[in-house]
Amino acid sequence: MIDIKEFKNRRKRLMDMIGSDSIAILPTASISIRNRDVEFPFRPDSDFFYLTGYPEPEAVLVLIPDRKQGECILFCRERDKKMETWHGRRSGLEGALEKYAADDAFPIEDMDDILPGLIEGHERVFYNMGNNQTFDQRVLGWVNQIKNNVRTGAIAPDEFVSLNHFLHEMRLYKSRYEISLMRKAAKISAKAHKRAMESCTPGMYEYQIEGELIAEFIKNGARHSAYPSIIGSGRNSCILHYTDNSDEMVEGDLLLIDSGAEYQCYASDITRTFPVNGKFTKAQRDVYNLVLSAQKAAINQIKPGKHWNNSHDTAVRVLTEGMVELGILKGDPDELIENGDYTKYYMHRTGHWLGMDVHDVGDYKLDGEWRMLEAGMVMTVEPGIYLPVDESLPKELHNIGVRIEDDVLVTKDGNDVLSKDAPKTIDEIEELMANAA
Ligand code: GLY
Ligand code: MN
Ligand code: MN
Repeated sequence: MIDIKEFKNRRKRLMDMIGSDSIAILPTASISIRNRDVEFPFRPDSDFFYLTGYPEPEAVLVLIPDRKQGECILFCRERDKKMETWHGRRSGLEGALEKYAADDAFPIEDMDDILPGLIEGHERVFYNMGNNQTFDQRVLGWVNQIKNNVRTGAIAPDEFVSLNHFLHEMRLYKSRYEISLMRKAAKISAKAHKRAMESCTPGMYEYQIEGELIAEFIKNGARHSAYPSIIGSGRNSCILHYTDNSDEMVEGDLLLIDSGAEYQCYASDITRTFPVNGKFTKAQRDVYNLVLSAQKAAINQIKPGKHWNNSHDTAVRVLTEGMVELGILKGDPDELIENGDYTKYYMHRTGHWLGMDVHDVGDYKLDGEWRMLEAGMVMTVEPGIYLPVDESLPKELHNIGVRIEDDVLVTKDGNDVLSKDAPKTIDEIEELMANAA
């Protein structure tokens, strides 16, 4: 059930920011063709959905602050008995008004006739150029059409402004309603990671584990993943964006799973790493516990008053000192950090914003400085160590890739790990896998 009051409130806040001499135009995502008449599953544009909750394709939101006949206009598909018999129900113009609380709704086919008249008289058009070339051309065409009529008294806008600044700042702070959806997405994913641990045995293929994860997502109402799952065993655990998921998993290997469900357009993003046979070797245990201590230390840095990069700096410090202790890196930790030598085995950042998009919107720096954390922000914390076959490493450390990733909400006085149901300590993992065997 969508909370229509919240969507109305978001539109109102945005309109207050853009001001009454402006108009905002936001199309939803385009349909992508997979082949011939087969389409990829449709996923609404996040900005559009954030303001409407409207799930159907072929829709454009237009916001006109202080327009007397109505400020929120939705261009959308009309009801059509035949099309609905073939392709599914539509909410139509009536639904746009009743279910999504638009003030006015028009058929999407009539946009070329109606929209120039709505743009006319406004100084600024808030529109994000560059996402959809075809739509960009149409917007420019409508504005040029008005410009061609200035001699008859038409007032054409003379400024295009990106909506990102206002809208993405709003999206960065999650409301209670959004947090409940993100908590649900994380809970579903945690269940799926548990199921993956319980079902994993040597001799299975990586894609069979993917099947277990996706089955759990769908069974719990999350029809889509937030991103393609990474199911990498053995040497594949050291390929950061491995998505082939095609190899047989063998005795003695680690399995790294980075997989998260999307629930009602909100992402989760969880990584767990565990041994295919359910029992960590000494070398795997050492590396795993190091990554875990870095992750815990980084999570401790997430609270109001800390800045965005504190958790990364902390993870880098713990990982580098630990890699020196384990003999993976040689030298003085301060110098290894200063020179960036640790990036040989830890080459990515410790997190990113999380929300409707897995790598969510929002600035990381303000005026050149790392941003301070505030209640309502959600981020991932995902340190890792990746040890490929490398002559400088002892053989028992080869092909150990470990990443541990959780989804963390900043609260008033600290943080809340939304993905805490996914087993994380060696004892928890080994016990779960032993009991499942
Ligand atoms: N799954 C993508 C990421 O961890 O950033
Ligand atoms: Mn991530
Ligand atoms: Mn991830």
